Amino acid sequence: MFNFKRKKKILNLEHIPHHIGIIMDGNGRWAKKRMQPRVFGHKAGMDALQNVTIKASDLGVKVLTVYAFSTENWSRPEDEVKFIMNLPVEFFDKYVPELHRNNVRVQMIGELNRLPKETLSALERAIEKTKHNSGLVLNFALNYGGRSEITSAIKLIAQDVLEARFNPGDIDEDLVANYLMTNHLPYLYRDPDLVIRTSGELRLSNFLPWQTAYSEFYFTDVLWPDFNAEELEKAISDFNQRHRRFGGV
Ligand code: FPP
Repeated sequence: MFNFKRKKKILNLEHIPHHIGIIMDGNGRWAKKRMQPRVFGHKAGMDALQNVTIKASDLGVKVLTVYAFSTENWSRPEDEVKFIMNLPVEFFDKYVPELHRNNVRVQMIGELNRLPKETLSALERAIEKTKHNSGLVLNFALNYGGRSEITSAIKLIAQDVLEARFNPGDIDEDLVANYLMTNHLPYLYRDPDLVIRTSGELRLSNFLPWQTAYSEFYFTDVLWPDFNAEELEKAISDFNQRHRRFGGV
């Protein structure tokens, strides 16, 4: 019989995933269930993110990459896009001070040139303020798309070959990884060990396709605003039961 209390006890602190990726899905449905506008769900989603970040930091997670906005999300209603783009401003004022006290370092990946000026500058302020912190890296994927990331990397590599910095024969996986947006993360923690997706959707949706080649996946029906410290422990506990073989036996 499934007994969560028992399961919780076996949470193995030796096997905390170093890098967790989260696809924070279900904000809109969470709001709808409460007869509220979708943006109400995004607001609640920010609180969930704060709580999960602090918990992950307490558990010793090194990197948390969160999918906040994909390159495909621009097709949402204009008001909703505007609201989401304003979240980093609120994030800086309301959430960064606590993260800073917890030694969290903020970073980001994505196509930054398309972001509104205020959105980018709020995130840059958060990155600047926390740049000396040595704890968990909270890595926002904002206006991020995995195929586009790989395409950009290929262009840069081709350019460097043209400029004779190296030969095509020198290109290996390590070199490719150096051209991806995750190249700023600590070398050992660039790839997520565990990817969590909430709200019952079973897709990767263009989230870190290269970096998740060997990730474990955890899908839950819980909507993102309801995802909390306990749900994170459940996901990690599930991860602890997996036997990662990386193609071996
Ligand atoms: C997906 O739910 C959620 C998003 C597209 C936005 C998530 C963003 C946050 C939680 C805040 C990020 C914080 C910063 C500082 C940028 P959905 O709208 O697709 O939900 P649905 O599938 O129920 O419609």
